[in-house]
Amino acid sequence: MTAHPPFFIIAIDGGAASGKSTSSKVLADRFNLLHVDTGSFYRGVTAEFLRLGVSAVDSPAVVAAAHALHFGTRLHRRSAVMELGGRVVPDAEIRSRVVNENVSHFAAIPAVRAALLAYQRGQTGVARTHHFRGVVMEGRDIGSVIFPDADFRFFLHADPVERARRREKEGGHDSIAERDRLDSTRKTAPLACPVGALSIDTTHLTPAQVVETLAAPIAAKFSRG
Ligand code: CDP
Repeated sequence: MTAHPPFFIIAIDGGAASGKSTSSKVLADRFNLLHVDTGSFYRGVTAEFLRLGVSAVDSPAVVAAAHALHFGTRLHRRSAVMELGGRVVPDAEIRSRVVNENVSHFAAIPAVRAALLAYQRGQTGVARTHHFRGVVMEGRDIGSVIFPDADFRFFLHADPVERARRREKEGGHDSIAERDRLDSTRKTAPLACPVGALSIDTTHLTPAQVVETLAAPIAAKFSRG
């Protein structure tokens, strides 16, 4: 019988433009992990609901649309890309202003979160099938709800002015303060540092410094196997 090599789960949570995506991608490359950006899943679902004309204030319509979602996953390098009914929502659409403005409203609805729960957990199966060593999953509730027993749980935060500057530099029209307010105050899976997670203030760190802060304990554990 061959023993399975250890499979690692790394959870990275934090507010908008806190440095999650940049560091998750580098960690995925460095440690051969599947990169899963759950924000892109909430964005994809939001774009789909908007395409169908479903409004976030129409609860029965949201519940029905959430039940009808049909998920799949394709890989783009080391990143999981969500398919909805076999179609990938283009990146320009999921990062559009209208999605920025609506995503936190849909993400606050329990039926939407429930629809994405099993799909997010199922990304470990995708990672195993494709022989990754684990997953690095970023979002708002990964260390609290999706994988509370993850091998590593990080929470990134930064000064709001610095985060607004970063998002502007990326060229996006984004109301990150409003999204953070909605994400932190919702009843289901609010954005918060999970108990026991390592909280890191990225305000005065370069992207490379954030990566090294996260990578150090991971490298130590990986080398122990
Ligand atoms: O890129 P940025 O950090 O600005 O946001 P994102 O990670 O793309 O997430 C977009 C939105 O999805 C967030 O503002 C949340 O409303 C929602 N989201 C969530 O509720 N739970 C997650 N695990 C990930 C995203």
